[in-house]
Amino acid sequence: MSLKLRINDVEVSASPGDGLLDVARRNGFSIPSLCHLESLPAIGACRVCLVEVTKGRRTKLTTACNYEVQDGIAVTTDSPEIHRHRAMNLELLLARAPAAEAIRKLAAQYGVSHPRFGPLKYNPLPNCILCERCVRACAQLGHNALTIIGRGDRKRIGLPFNKPAESCVGCGSCVSVCPTDCIPVKDTPKTRTIWGQSFDFVLCQECATPVITEKNRAHAIKTKGLPEDYYDLCEACKQAATSERFAAIVW
Ligand code: SF4
Ligand code: SF4
Ligand code: FES
Repeated sequence: MSLKLRINDVEVSASPGDGLLDVARRNGFSIPSLCHLESLPAIGACRVCLVEVTKGRRTKLTTACNYEVQDGIAVTTDSPEIHRHRAMNLELLLARAPAAEAIRKLAAQYGVSHPRFGPLKYNPLPNCILCERCVRACAQLGHNALTIIGRGDRKRIGLPFNKPAESCVGCGSCVSVCPTDCIPVKDTPKTRTIWGQSFDFVLCQECATPVITEKNRAHAIKTKGLPEDYYDLCEACKQAATSERFAAIVW
């Protein structure tokens, strides 16, 4: 079944269960976002994706990422009211993450360069905006090595029971989804240190590039049923080996 809705007066189709932000983007409408990733469950944490949704005679401001589309709604993605609310939310986020490039850039687009409040008194992970992307990505991969601790102004991202998590494999996915680059990670040619633990890398057998951590390799081979030699080569060397084999067949 297909739903019809209007975004900025243009009719678009969607499927039941689709999130409004994803539908809008698929149809070329631009809405800012910080906490959302299409591959992760939406939680509406950053509130910069605010839009106006009209259903019948009622119009309300709502976060687009965790709003399930409905048949017949009309959506406005920008207006002075939306702009004002996004700017206010960005000011709060900038106070949390004054050094984060992504926040500074987006805030500047909304005319915010210096938050009127902050710095935070309690901020164990500087520049974290509590978007929970890291927690959701880690959970989605089945590791559940990160969690939300505390409430209100003591809320923070951390390790369950405040100690290095046995389930962490050092994959670095939390780092790659973090919009503010605030998760401390240290990579050397042979090891990665993250969340209080050090992991040895598997090195490419051809060029010695780090491929994956040993612990993540063991986990991936076990859970995805991959062959034991799957991570012996880095992607570039794998491709080169495939091209060589292909050339040998052709010639
Ligand atoms: S590095 Fe550890 S905490 Fe980060 S996503 Fe991977 S398993 Fe989770
Ligand atoms: S560490 Fe990064 S990804 Fe995790 S909640 Fe903070 S800002 Fe978001
Ligand atoms: S992207 Fe919608 S609330 Fe963050």
